[in-house]
Amino acid sequence: MNKATRKTIIAGNWKMNKTPAEATELITAIAPLVKDADCEVIACVPYVDLYPALEAAKGTNIQIGAENCHWAKSGAFTAEISADMLASMGLKYVIIGHSERRQYFGETDKTVRDRVRAALDAGLTVILCVGEYLEQREQDVTAEVVRMQTKIALMGVSAEEMSRIVIAYEPVWAIGTGLTATAEQADEVCGIIRECIAELYTNEVAEATTIQYGGSMNDANADELLSKVNVDGGLIGGASLVAEKFAAIVKAASK
Ligand code: PGA
Repeated sequence: MNKATRKTIIAGNWKMNKTPAEATELITAIAPLVKDADCEVIACVPYVDLYPALEAAKGTNIQIGAENCHWAKSGAFTAEISADMLASMGLKYVIIGHSERRQYFGETDKTVRDRVRAALDAGLTVILCVGEYLEQREQDVTAEVVRMQTKIALMGVSAEEMSRIVIAYEPVWAIGTGLTATAEQADEVCGIIRECIAELYTNEVAEATTIQYGGSMNDANADELLSKVNVDGGLIGGASLVAEKFAAIVKAASK
């Protein structure tokens, strides 16, 4: 197991927060604090914030991503945004399959897979979210759940395309709740996902895939979580909205 074979990525997921003007402000505040980062730094922001965030991030080491994309190239899908639209803006990253999409907006493993396909076809890199509900953890089916979500989402994704897949393990019970998985729990499940990728592809592909942890990661617990061999970064919600907290996590990942 060699962490050095893969990129460490700290990505903010702003969810439905920040107006365009506030987005400019936040990126401008984060930029000087993370300029010496020894990891990739990404902010995934609401659609209306993409342009201002891209503008504010110009000349910095912060990359901007979106929080979702539709599976169709174009068409009668009122209010949706295609992967091509995002790619044409110069974006590289898009989050797909976040548990809030699954929980509140009818996202299924099948629609996650379709969106992954569309994003890859558009040339984007996907941050694919998987994770179990508390009830599933209590029923001791966490491994089955994350394996199933991972396998279905990656159906039809080639080994070459895996270089544009990042996986975020986000236990649903830890998101926005202040409850964090222990570093051991995070490491264990990220390891299960890595094994699943090795089965689907090769050990080499599995060793090269960045697997993040997400769920109440903050400036206080990042060090320990990121010290684990299978945890290659974080997908950060609440703490990504505060420049100093986000920068502290980036710093922990840069050690
Ligand atoms: P949280 O969100 O850090 O606020 O728990 C993480 C996420 O949903 O990506």
